[in-house]
Amino acid sequence: MAVNRTPLIAGNWKMNLDHLQSIAFVQKLAWALKDAKHDYASTEVAVFPPYTDLRSVQTLVTADKLDLRYGGQDLSQHDSGAYTGEISGAFLAALDCAYVIIGHSERRQYHAETDEIVASKTVAALRHGLVPVVCVGETAEDLEQHGPSAVPVAQLAVVLAALDADADIVVAYEPVWAIGSGQAATPEQAQQVCAALRASIAEHLGEAAAERTRILYGGSVKAANIAGFMAQRDIDGALVGGASLDVDGFASIARFRQHVGTV
Ligand code: PGA
Repeated sequence: MAVNRTPLIAGNWKMNLDHLQSIAFVQKLAWALKDAKHDYASTEVAVFPPYTDLRSVQTLVTADKLDLRYGGQDLSQHDSGAYTGEISGAFLAALDCAYVIIGHSERRQYHAETDEIVASKTVAALRHGLVPVVCVGETAEDLEQHGPSAVPVAQLAVVLAALDADADIVVAYEPVWAIGSGQAATPEQAQQVCAALRASIAEHLGEAAAERTRILYGGSVKAANIAGFMAQRDIDGALVGGASLDVDGFASIARFRQHVGTV
């Protein structure tokens, strides 16, 4: 984590919590962080609920003037039209989403999202004023065959080639073998890949973009291991799946500064 980048702790709920549950969850999370006197300016906190929850979350965040950010878990690369089941970035922007996750490994695996689709979704997000959280990561087989950074760097390169130097994106490095497995990467492994991703951003978009862009680690992050990741120079936050569904656990991850040096 570098001083000039504001850390982002992001909770990817995946297909969990309906709109009623989302209201209770966000209320509790906001209380837990308020109790802990959380400073949102020093660590941003965002949740990524299912689409059907977003209106409820927006209403709560607006009514209670919460500093929590939120976003969608995917979007269409198209803006409107005959794309049954798809959600336009314009709709997410209309619900005041700040972010949208793009190219999560589950989208790549179960919905055949290629690097090219991920790139055009990233461009679509930017077109609608959303900050894309672009996910990259290697499978266990990729790791064995190509080493740790080749695949995520190649995945990101396709996206970067489609962007302008001033594009505001977040990158999430999520080794597929670490997602939901309880087997997180070590902080050193994650740092190595995040440094390679940052170097690739510098190469494609320039030094200023590389310095500014936040790179998150994701894959079995929990309160007990967040501090180790946040101590790394090129890791600026976390994309949290399973552990983001527990209010106290997620609040504790967002409060990582309290445990740096204790883990
Ligand atoms: P996990 O998921 O924290 O449950 O490993 C991370 C993710 O898929 O974003």
